[in-house]
Order: sequence, then structure tokens, then C-alpha cells
Amino acid sequence: MARHRQHVNPLKMAYFGRTAEPLALPPGRAIEVELGCADAQFLFQRAAADPDRSYVGLEIRADLAGEVADRARRLGAPVQVVFCHANLDYAQLFAPATVARAFVNFPDPWFKRRHRKRRVVDAALAADIAASLVPGGELFFQSDVWDAALDALAVLEAEPRLTNRAGPWSFWKRGNPYGATSRREDGCAEEGAPVWRLLYATGGRAPGSGAA
Ligand SMILES: C[S@@+](CC[C@H](N)C(=O)[O-])C[C@H]1O[C@@H](n2cnc3c(N)ncnc32)[C@H](O)[C@@H]1O
Repeated sequence: MARHRQHVNPLKMAYFGRTAEPLALPPGRAIEVELGCADAQFLFQRAAADPDRSYVGLEIRADLAGEVADRARRLGAPVQVVFCHANLDYAQLFAPATVARAFVNFPDPWFKRRHRKRRVVDAALAADIAASLVPGGELFFQSDVWDAALDALAVLEAEPRLTNRAGPWSFWKRGNPYGATSRREDGCAEEGAPVWRLLYATGGRAPGSGAA
């Protein structure tokens, strides 16, 4: 796969005023979404493990989205990708109570204080994700950047429809329970870098929930 520049400024004007292509989802299948999927390694692994579900990657980089679409076609995998700005487009892409799992794997960290407003996990997105989840649906977040993980924890604790499966204000310490790893996650494992994880669920319990 070609090398790509790491970060795209999600506040760039080019992303405003355009809307994502409408998403046609196969009926009757549980939907799993990764926000900021990059090469969608995580979703392709999920699809290989459980091909009866539908997987949707959201990606702000058109080149990456194109590569994911090509790969999905080549493999015949139940993976779709939407070239979009997840923060702006999520609520339009997913109707209320339709998503089984939403994943935010290693979002761009935006270390500098003045860049923090570019971070993908904010209160508006948390509300959109919470609304999209089916009862018992899950939101899983992981990051190797402590500061970004702490910010995400604060944002997600404030969303009243989400319950922290590890207990209030706690990180999920039992590892990634989904049997799939993202590219960045593999890099962290190789380097021995710590990863902070969060697992939230909406009220009720989804059948086949991976994170008992
Ligand atoms: C650090 S990479 C992590 C990729 C992958 N999830 C992983 O764990 O290997 C973050 C990805 O999120 C994408 N991204 C950043 N902001 C986004 C946004 N607002 N909407 C959609 N994608 C976004 C970036 O282009 C990049 O591909």
C-alpha cells in the first residue's frame, strides 16, 4: 500500500459544504462502523471473522477511501467505505438505532493545544453515535495517546445515553475484545506502546455482544 501523509486537518474548508454520498446498507444485517478507518484493516478482519454483518468505514482521505473500496470489491468483502467528514456526516449516514458497534481506533491525536478542536471525539459526535446505536450497541475507543484518551473519556462520560462498561470514569483494561486489530494497533503492539481503551454501551444488551 502506498505511504500516506499522517494527518488531514478536518477543519479545512474543503470539507464543509459537501455531503457524503448516501449509504445503501443491506437490510437485516448488524452494522459495524469505524470512524477514521484509514486502510480499514480492522474492518476487513472483522468481516473475515463474521461475514454476516455489514462493515462501514468512514474516512476523510479520498485516496484511502478509494483503496478500501477497491480492496472490498476485489475480496468481495462486506465492507463499504464512505469518503466523508465523520463529525459532519455521521448523523446523516446512520439513522437512529441502526448501528450495532461504532469503533474509533487511534484517532489523529492533534497534540498541540491549539489543534485540539480538530479531535474527532467531541460532544456532538458522541451524541450522534449514541443516537445511532441499537439498544445494547457498543462504542469502542482506543488510543496510544494518553491525553487524547483522557479527553475522550471526559466527553463520553458526559453523554447520558452511554454507560461505561468498565465502570464510571474507567478505562477498559481487558484488551480489545473484537478479534480484529487496526494497523496502528499492530504498530503499538510491536513497539510495546501502551494503549488506552474505552468501551461504552447503550441501555440493554446486544445479542452476541463481544465484550462480556
Ligand atoms: C491515526 S489514523 C488511524 C487509522 C486506523 N483507525 C488505525 O487505527 O490504524 C486516523 C485516521 O482517521 C482519519 N480521519 C481523521 N479525521 C477524520 C474525520 N473527521 N472523518 C473521517 N476520518 C477522519 C484520518 O484520515 C486517518 O486515516
